[in-house]
Amino acid sequence: MSTIRLPGLVDAHVHLREPGYEYKEDFATGTMAALAGGVTTVLDMPNTNPPTSTPERLADKARRAAAQAVCDVGLFVGATNTEADAYLPVAPQACGLKIYVSDTFGSLRIDTLALMHRLFRTWAAQAAQVGYRMNGAPHGLGPITVHAEELMLPVCLALSHLYAVPLHIAHVSRRSEIELIRAAKERGLPVTCEATPHHLFLSTDDLPRLGACGDMRPRLATPDDVAALWENLEFVDIFATDHAPHTLVEKGIGVSEAPAAPPPGVPGLETMLPLLLTAAQDGRLTLDDIMMRCSDNPRRIYGLPMQPETWIEVDVDAAYELTNADLKTKVGWTPFAGQRVYGRIERVVLRGESVYARGEVLAAPGSGKVLFQGL
Ligand code: DOR
Ligand code: ZN
Repeated sequence: MSTIRLPGLVDAHVHLREPGYEYKEDFATGTMAALAGGVTTVLDMPNTNPPTSTPERLADKARRAAAQAVCDVGLFVGATNTEADAYLPVAPQACGLKIYVSDTFGSLRIDTLALMHRLFRTWAAQAAQVGYRMNGAPHGLGPITVHAEELMLPVCLALSHLYAVPLHIAHVSRRSEIELIRAAKERGLPVTCEATPHHLFLSTDDLPRLGACGDMRPRLATPDDVAALWENLEFVDIFATDHAPHTLVEKGIGVSEAPAAPPPGVPGLETMLPLLLTAAQDGRLTLDDIMMRCSDNPRRIYGLPMQPETWIEVDVDAAYELTNADLKTKVGWTPFAGQRVYGRIERVVLRGESVYARGEVLAAPGSGKVLFQGL
């Protein structure tokens, strides 16, 4: 047994589903899943119901998280076609602005170039007042984070360049996208990006086996796209899960009549670290590669506060099979069930308290902090 101590991980892209979809996940179960995965900070997406697009809704979400979360939580605000910049007064209390320009789950979606222009211009004007939180500053704005696939990606890159707004590209999945991001970075554009474990470890080859449990946005890509992510790993700043729980019934598993349009998305909080540690065992990654992308870089890009006396203990040589039965996520399944992995999270310590040990969450509801609310 070789148990090592690592910093608590950050998952910069999760959907904890409160309010509106508590039957899929809530702040209690989602943050319990985070601790079980060695994650001590999560950044929660705004595509809830209602979406997090106004000061009142951000405050409501913050209250819910403060009462229930067992790890630290940052909250994104989102822009809608009808409430374009209603979030503006509370922008510094959010970890960043999330803009959806490609199809996915929920009602948040920006449809016009005029609105995109306005969002980047407004964010830049606000940043001129309060600064960016990047580079360790404790206040100011986070980056604009986009779900922008295919041809929408250069639109966002151009706007980020024109307005000098730091841009973070969520869940890059295709060769064309990572190669464009690489070119943008080589030109010095203020752009960062993330890749998910499902886009790194699964491809279209897995779809027949996974069915609706392999359906997410962006969709699983070809083996050549997956190879491109690995070839260009030095341009991938963050590994993030896009933890997006939907129930098996919604996915049409175990029901007689298949749903017409199962919602896209897969859970991921509890499987990211073992999958990455398995790739490390296979010689595809180093432990430093993992920690840079799961802790140092997300903290820097989103300007997250350090968590004192916080670490995880991981038996990196423990081999076992991922199973649905062991999961804390409310939906109780993973597309990686049945896969053999290395790396068992033995214990998680948050601010000096043992909050998770050998499969059990020990933290009291509400012991997690909600980030940036006082700023
Ligand atoms: O597959 C996805 N599911 N991709 C997203 O961008 C959103 C997510 C969800 O919220 O279910
Ligand atoms: Zn997402």
